[in-house]
Amino acid sequence: MRLLKRAAAIGIASLMVLSMAACGSGAKETTAAATEATTAAESNTTAESTAEAVKEAVGGDMSDKKVGISIYKFDDNFMTLYRTELQRYLVDELGFKKENVVVQDGKNDQAEQTNQIQNFITQKYDVLILNLVQSSSAPEVTEMCKEAGIPVVYINREPTVEEEQRWKDESIKATYVGCDARQSGTYQGEQILETSNKGDINGDGVVSYIMVQGDPENVDAQYRTEFSIKALTDAGVEVKELLKQRGDWDQAKAQQIVQDALTQYGDQIEVVFCNNDAMALGALQSIEAAGRKVNEDIYLVGVDALTEAVQNVLDGKMTGTVFNDHLSQAQSAADMAAAFVLGEDVENVNMVDYVKVTKDNAQEVLDKLK
Ligand code: GAL
Repeated sequence: MRLLKRAAAIGIASLMVLSMAACGSGAKETTAAATEATTAAESNTTAESTAEAVKEAVGGDMSDKKVGISIYKFDDNFMTLYRTELQRYLVDELGFKKENVVVQDGKNDQAEQTNQIQNFITQKYDVLILNLVQSSSAPEVTEMCKEAGIPVVYINREPTVEEEQRWKDESIKATYVGCDARQSGTYQGEQILETSNKGDINGDGVVSYIMVQGDPENVDAQYRTEFSIKALTDAGVEVKELLKQRGDWDQAKAQQIVQDALTQYGDQIEVVFCNNDAMALGALQSIEAAGRKVNEDIYLVGVDALTEAVQNVLDGKMTGTVFNDHLSQAQSAADMAAAFVLGEDVENVNMVDYVKVTKDNAQEVLDKLK
């Protein structure tokens, strides 16, 4: 498994860049972010090679192995796409038996999810793939798995850098597969900077915006919120936050938040930032209901590249979105699980790149999603 070892080396570089960005000054962060983008791109290619290597090595060996998967909640558009690909790839590409790939709904309840994990452990599953309800539970869950000798692949909700480092230092069979949410936030900000008036529709020299956040415990929500605005201020643009409210990744909640905000602030709102596309779709319903027109008198950006959102970008109803590559993430997570089952060492952090989606490449992204 030479290729897996190469993946490991790149993983280390990626983690180093991440920690640099986390504690560096503004200038350092920019350099780190650029390096990070390159590193993530490299690790993307590596993820593909890893997949090949795993497939080669797997043969029929996986047919009696059991994978326990728990998703933080089934009722989440993005994670539904993710888990569908995860199941398909484990069975069709890696040779796990369908009945040995068990996926459970964490129902957004950490106690319930911890129970599910406990049951997987009691039933001696070979490997777990976990999308934690609360990423802060990672140390406790990791200990449970470690004691039972079961490797674990965390996905989507990133544990802390300290926890990830602990797995490495203590040779614990745990890894994280995800994306660096700073990159998606930065892309959202850039999309506003790329508009003809850099987001300043009323020409008063200030970009006035509202921010609809995901679950704020989630690092994706924190980083997208911070880095979308940072991209504007780094470019010397003055900003004014009219409102920041949590919409918990949920379309209906976002629709209500944006409806109320439009009633309260009206034309003052020039940009609506949503931490994901489900919320951007809700925002769009309210924007249209209020008689406003995206890309004319208001801008709207999301993240994930849900099919409907990408179509909206193509039709000019959303300014942009960012492809949160669930296909590569699911495949990489499954590859890591298979590598663990084969007794391979796996790097502790594995990042996949985000892709900025604008009108120019929206059709290409749509084709990939179909
Ligand atoms: C994010 C994604 C959101 C939501 C969240 C769940 O990466 O953009 O739509 O699925 O993960 O943790």
